[in-house]
Amino acid sequence: MQYRTLGSTNLSVSVLSIGTVELGMDYGIGSPDNVEHPDEKESIDLLRSAISSGVNLFDTAPSYGDSEIIVGKALGEQGGCYIATKVSGVRSSQSISHQNNYHWDIANSIELSLQNLHREYLDILQIHNADVNDFTNSKLISGLEQAKEQRLINCIGATVYGSDNALAAICSGIVDVIQIPLSVLDQRLVSTVLPEAISANVGVIARSVLLKGALTSKAKYLPYELHPLREAVNHCRSKLGVSWDQLPEYAIRYCLGVVGVHSILVGVRSHDELNYALDAVKLGPLTETDMNLVSDLGLMEENLLNPFYWNIP
Ligand SMILES: NC(=O)c1ccc[n+]([C@@H]2O[C@H](COP(=O)([O-])OP(=O)(O)OC[C@H]3O[C@@H](n4cnc5c(N)ncnc54)[C@H](OP(=O)(O)O)[C@@H]3O)[C@@H](O)[C@H]2O)c1
Repeated sequence: MQYRTLGSTNLSVSVLSIGTVELGMDYGIGSPDNVEHPDEKESIDLLRSAISSGVNLFDTAPSYGDSEIIVGKALGEQGGCYIATKVSGVRSSQSISHQNNYHWDIANSIELSLQNLHREYLDILQIHNADVNDFTNSKLISGLEQAKEQRLINCIGATVYGSDNALAAICSGIVDVIQIPLSVLDQRLVSTVLPEAISANVGVIARSVLLKGALTSKAKYLPYELHPLREAVNHCRSKLGVSWDQLPEYAIRYCLGVVGVHSILVGVRSHDELNYALDAVKLGPLTETDMNLVSDLGLMEENLLNPFYWNIP
């Protein structure tokens, strides 16, 4: 496993990181009869296998069903691995106008995550689905900075959709790490956001590198209204000259080759998927020829690229 320093943080993270929404709740394209998440024992086993293979960064969130609890049981007391979790819902808080209550909401979310994760502090706390307004919200910012001063969190992060939100996070100066969508079909942030992240020395975690499973043979299960996406996936596969079984490998290796990305976050639900991702990262980035070949395959349509609009759990 290779490791990269995550921007200006003191974290040396594995190039492969593991997402855990798949372990905490039913999720994904799947076949119609196979979207269930593994049971707790299988999930714990899977996460510990990932650690044994050198993965040291895991992503979770309070809103991912039982994910934080499972991650806590599997990894909480394991030294040498980093857990990135999230704070959400603060924006819609009833207590939004009261700074003290606002801080209380953040502190509450942190306390619950610390309990679930069996940790004394959070390695990375990300604003979940941050938008530009969050970075001018002095109550949110001061709440997070206060938690950092109190050593309840080590790094502040933001998970984002879209260039504007990503750039606002970088320019805010308070964010150590951003988590962005990136895949061979979603190259929209490559030229707009990554150069800025590099010059600000902000850590970058790339997610949705398999586009929630669309860049795998599960593309066949995409609903009818997403047929343009299915066609784009098939076109990508033909252009690279790879089989359906090889496509996820190429999709992972594409993201490994994108300059400015420190870790590739892949969601896995089984040992087979974990081992597949581990084997893919061992092969390293795509060749320069293949990187050039796929450089014009990116789509622009938000409704195809953002699984939020797919009407799938
Ligand atoms: N806004 C946010 O903060 C946000 C949004 C989305 C995701 N995330 C994070 O990112 C992680 C990844 O989520 P994602 O949905 O974007 O996932 P992804 O990594 O693009 O795709 C994951 C899905 O791909 C399928 N898969 C994985 N390996 C495969 C293989 N070798 N062959 C065939 N299928 C394979 C699995 O589907 P099956 O489960 O059907 O097997 C898995 O659920 C999440 O766990 C979460 O931690 C964060």
